[in-house]
Order: sequence, then structure tokens, then C-alpha cells
Amino acid sequence: MATPSNCSKQYSKFFVLVVFFTTMSTPVLAQLSVGFYASTCPSVLDTVRSATRSAINREARMGASLIRLFFHDCFVNGCDGGVLLDDTTSVPGEKTVLPNSGSARGFEVIDTIKTQVDRACGGSVVSCADILAIAARDSVVELGGPSYSVPLGRRDARAPNRAGMSGLPGFFENLGPLLSKFSAKGFSAQEMVALSGAHTVGQARCVVYRDRIYNETNIDPAYATSLQANCPRATGTNDETLAPLDPQSPNRFGNNYFQALINRRTILHSDQELFNGGSTDSIVRDYSDNPATFSTDFANAMVKMGNMSPLTGTQGEIRRDCKRINEV
Ligand code: HEM
Ligand SMILES: *[C@@H]1O[C@H](CO)[C@@H](O)[C@H](O)[C@H]1NC(C)=O
Repeated sequence: MATPSNCSKQYSKFFVLVVFFTTMSTPVLAQLSVGFYASTCPSVLDTVRSATRSAINREARMGASLIRLFFHDCFVNGCDGGVLLDDTTSVPGEKTVLPNSGSARGFEVIDTIKTQVDRACGGSVVSCADILAIAARDSVVELGGPSYSVPLGRRDARAPNRAGMSGLPGFFENLGPLLSKFSAKGFSAQEMVALSGAHTVGQARCVVYRDRIYNETNIDPAYATSLQANCPRATGTNDETLAPLDPQSPNRFGNNYFQALINRRTILHSDQELFNGGSTDSIVRDYSDNPATFSTDFANAMVKMGNMSPLTGTQGEIRRDCKRINEV
């Protein structure tokens, strides 16, 4: 009988072979690459950057909205432009499901950029999923955050995935479930906290922070009171009143968000869960003390999020209109 050590040695040899052959026989398992459009659409990066910049100049919040749209695209079935699809009578899309309905925005900006990119490159060669990934990076940079190279070559889904929406985290969730949802997508606690740093920019509606400002105790009481003025207790009144996720600088990307967590000046229950006596407190303190560490970790985690099971090669399609699948 083989000793345990022999046995595991043989097993690992077998495993290496399996990995080797699986990789060899699956050419569509193509990697994304930064230079993917170098010959087919060399001006794509410039075009997306200037269009994203003008959208943010028109409305400062748009940067935050595009960053969030990218997150909601990637976390549901990978970054496949699925979130951009409109409902059709036969196939309802992702836009109208709870985490998106009434709050996901920036769709018209992506449509405008797509039109400009197609014009610049003489045809529809860049996917909507890639445009969203580039626009999210450009938004981070435009708002003062770290830059990073965006690997490209994603293709667009031929269908939305409404069921996959349940993988998105909810503002009402506690730390354990939040960690599980990110872990299910391959992200560590540290990466989850880094990505949550995106809440350094943007806004949320009264309807999602009402319970917190009236019922929760781990919030700065003066801050809660100040928000109550425009977000009354009764459901259905001023549900849409916006408040910044990071009170210090809602249009400036930095690490202030982590100080806000420490000061308990946050409006999402889920945000305060990251600093509420649990296992992620130390990560929050670290990012609050070390902006450079946060910047590096955030940029790396955004690239990792962008690599979530992309469609590549001949999978999916290059959508001509980001709102609907191509007619064939
Ligand atoms: C940790 C779990 C997360 C939860 C529970 C969560 C939840 C939310 C909620 C409830 C809002 C406000 C939407 C509304 O008013 O209805 C929001 C906004 C936002 N989220 Fe998250 N989020 C999470 C993680 C992330 C991640 C990973 C990113 C990006 C990397 C992100 C980016 C944003 C941005 C930028 C906004 C502001 C959008 C705007 O102003 O249009 N969030 N999030
Ligand atoms: C706060 O808690 C009470 C008691 O559980 C509940 O009735 C109420 O709907 C909650 N939310 C607000 C905004 O008061």
C-alpha cells in the first residue's frame, strides 16, 4: 500500500497534467490584454477618457455612478455588459431588479461613449463591457483616485442574468453575509474593504439610509439628526433625498471614507459593518492611516473585479447598441 506521502505526490502529478491539458485544449480561455484594441481601435482610450471627463464636468456625481455600474456589471455573471441591457417584453433585464432599480445610473453616458468610440474607429469593434470598464477607471482618475491599466477584450452577453443579481450585496446586510458574498466571487476581506472604499464618492437615497439614521446606535448622533431633517421617518416621504456616502468629499476620491467609518459618520448599515468591532476593523484603520496602501489595493482589486469571468474570443458579441443585443 502506498504511503500517504507517495499517494499525494502521485495525485499532484496527475493534477498538474489535468490543469495542463485543460488549458491547452481551451483556446477561448483567452486572457484580457491592455493592448487588445491597439490595431482595431487605437483611439479607444482617448475617446473614452474625454467623454467620461465631459460627463463628469456636466454632473460631478456621474463619476461615482459609472464606478458603481461597473461593479454591478461585474458581480453579476462577470463583466459582460449585462447590466446595460434594457428590459424587453420577452426578456426582462437587470436594470429593473432591486439593487439597480431606481438607483443605477449612467446608462446614457455609456451609450454616448459607445457612439463616439464607434465613430472614432469606423465601426462597432469595442464591446460595451470594455467601455464600461475603461469609463470606471477614468472616473476614478478624474475624481482624484489611483490610475491603473485596464485589461481589455471582453465581449458582451447575449442575455441579461436577473437571477445573478442576488449575488450583489445589500445595504441591510451584516459583516458575515457581506464577506460571504465577496468570498463567493473570489475576494478576500481585505479586497472587499478596499473595494468598499469606492464609497468615498457618490450618494444614496433616504429610502436606503432611513432605518440607520432613526434606529441604529452606532452612528454619530449629531450626524444622524442632521440627516433626519430631509429624510423623515415615514416611508413614502422624501424617499429620494440624497446624502453623501462619505460626508467629507462626495466628489473627491480619497481615503476619507475610512475615517468616516471610524467616526461613525456613515449612512449605509453595510458600510458601518466594516467597522463595528469585527474582523475588518483593523483593515479600515490601516487604510485610514495609509492612503498609499489603500490606493494600491483599490486599483488591484478593480483590475481583479474586471477580470471576473469575461466572455472572450468568439463568446458573446460586440453589441452595437449597449441597450439591446444585436439582431442576427
Ligand atoms: C460592500 C458591499 C456594498 C454595498 C452593500 C453597496 C451598496 C450601495 C448602496 C445601497 C448605494 C446607494 C444606492 C441607492 O441610493 O439606492 C451604493 C452606492 C454606490 N456604490 Fe456601493 N455597495 C457596495 C460595494 C460597492 C463597491 C464594491 C463599489 C465599487 C467598487 C461601489 C460603488 C458605489 C458607488 C460609487 C456608489 C454611489 C453611486 C452614485 O452616487 O450614483 N459599492 N452602494
Ligand atoms: C425602526 O424600528 C421600529 C421598531 O422596530 C420600526 O417600527 C420602524 O419601522 C423602524 N424604522 C424607522 C425608520 O423608524
